[in-house]
Order: sequence, then C-alpha cells, then structure tokens
Amino acid sequence: MKPIGDAGARASPRSLPDLAPEQRRILVVNAKGGCGKTTLATNLAALYASMAVDTALVDHDPQGSSSQWLKARDESRPAIQGIAPWKEASAGHTTRTFQMRLAFSARRVVIDTPAALSASDFGRWLGEADRILIPVLPSSIDIKAGARFIGDLLLDRQYRQRPIPLAVVANRVRRNTVVFQKLERFLRSLRIPFVATFRDLQGYVRAAEVGDGLFELPRGRDQQEWEAFTRLLTWVEATDRWRGARGTTASDSLGPSVS
Ligand SMILES: Nc1ncnc2c1ncn2[C@@H]1O[C@H](COP(=O)(O)OP(=O)(O)O)[C@@H](O)[C@H]1O
Ligand SMILES: [Mg+2]
Repeated sequence: MKPIGDAGARASPRSLPDLAPEQRRILVVNAKGGCGKTTLATNLAALYASMAVDTALVDHDPQGSSSQWLKARDESRPAIQGIAPWKEASAGHTTRTFQMRLAFSARRVVIDTPAALSASDFGRWLGEADRILIPVLPSSIDIKAGARFIGDLLLDRQYRQRPIPLAVVANRVRRNTVVFQKLERFLRSLRIPFVATFRDLQGYVRAAEVGDGLFELPRGRDQQEWEAFTRLLTWVEATDRWRGARGTTASDSLGPSVS
C-alpha cells in the first residue's frame, strides 16, 4: 500500500494495490469522442502522482485537452510531466525529443488519444502501451460502437502481433443500467474484463477545469468512485502473466481471447 495523501486516506480505509515494479504505459482509447478518455487519463495520472509515482501524461489529441488540464494544474499539486507529441511535430521536430524520451521513461505513463475512425488508426500508438483502457458510455449507440471498436482492435494485425491486456470501464453511469448487460456478455465471450464503473458526477467536470483529479477537490472524496479507481488500479498493476505468454492464447483474465 502506498500513501495517497490526505484525500485518499480519508476517502476510504481500503488500500490501493502495490504497484508493479516495472514501468507501465496505459493507453486510453475509444473511437468515440466524449466518452471520457481525457477524464480517465487525467484522473489516473493525478492518482499516480498523488502516490508519489513519477508520472507522465502523453496527449496525442491535437485538441490538447489533457495538455490544457495539466496547464491549469496548480503548482502545489503532485507534479505530472506533460508531453504533446503533435506540438513537437508542428514545431518541426519529427523525431522524439529529449523531453518526450523523458516522459516515456516515467514509471507510469498515461496516454490520452483523440477519437478516431477505426481501431487501426490507433495502431501507431499500440507500441507505446502495456495496458489499454476503453471508456464506454451507457447508451446503446456508444456500447455498439465500443463493441465494434474492440472487435476491430482484436483483429488488428499489429495488435495480434503484440497483444496487450485491455479492459473496459463504464463511464458516466447514473444508476445500475441494464444496457451494459449486452456489452458485458460480449466482453465475457472475449475474456475482456469490465473493470470499473464511474458515475456521472459534476466533480469530474469541476476537477477538469482546474487541473485536478476528482480526489484532489476539497469535496471530491467519494467512496464509491474511490473503490472504482482502486479496482481499476488493481487491474492495471496486476502481474503480467499474459504478456509472458505472448503469441499464445490468452491464459488468464488479463488477456482477451483473440482467436
Ligand atoms: N464521469 C463523468 N461525470 C461527469 N462528467 C464527465 C464524466 N466523464 C467525462 N465527463 C465530461 O464529459 C465531457 C467529455 O469527456 P472527455 O473526458 O473530454 O471525453 P473524451 O476525451 O473521450 O472526448 C467532458 O466535459 C467531461 O468533463
Ligand atoms: Mg479527450
């Protein structure tokens, strides 16, 4: 258990999991815009930073929402390194700069991405990831699009060459909805875990405006959300047995079935 400062300690008596000793790079993706990629990426980065972990936040979205969040972040908050590769590119640096290498050497690297048309658009980022997180909103349209995206991703040639544990999180859920049952069945058939459910809370919107994670807000200590983040972290930090079996059928709950 690592301390997470005052906010976390009061939010829940439950401990956060121990962190895996090696670097973990967490790619947050979904073909849909507005499903919570940036919210998830920034909150996860803030959580790691508050655990005194060397954390980087990579913003692949030219809209720059994660970068803006980081810019708004108060200096008194635990530091997060930010890097926006598209900025580097537009400044004429086509290769990775020193700053970028530094960000990628952080112990935890959270990677935010733009909405894209298909899973194959994400191919160029797959090489940067050890875990993939897919936020999905609880509407039929979003669930169908999410399922299609996951299906495409599992069939992607690059993904099949180097499968990466992926998980889905439900975002902006107002109550226990039945809409997710279909998605859950689909995910179970692919052996993809449904790791956490985040509620629709104004706190996320307020935190986004000031560069905070939800738990850094004075009134952001929400027990249920804390438990959701604990489950998410437990999955991200789990032992990487599956990767050891790369190229073979997934043999534990971390990995999807790609056959
Ligand atoms: N769990 C949540 N509760 C309330 N608002 C949320 C939640 N998740 C995201 N939002 C809000 O929804 C909007 C879109 O979220 P965002 O993270 O920017 O999506 P994406 O990066 O996938 O486009 C933002 O205004 C964000 O503050
Ligand atoms: Mg975004």
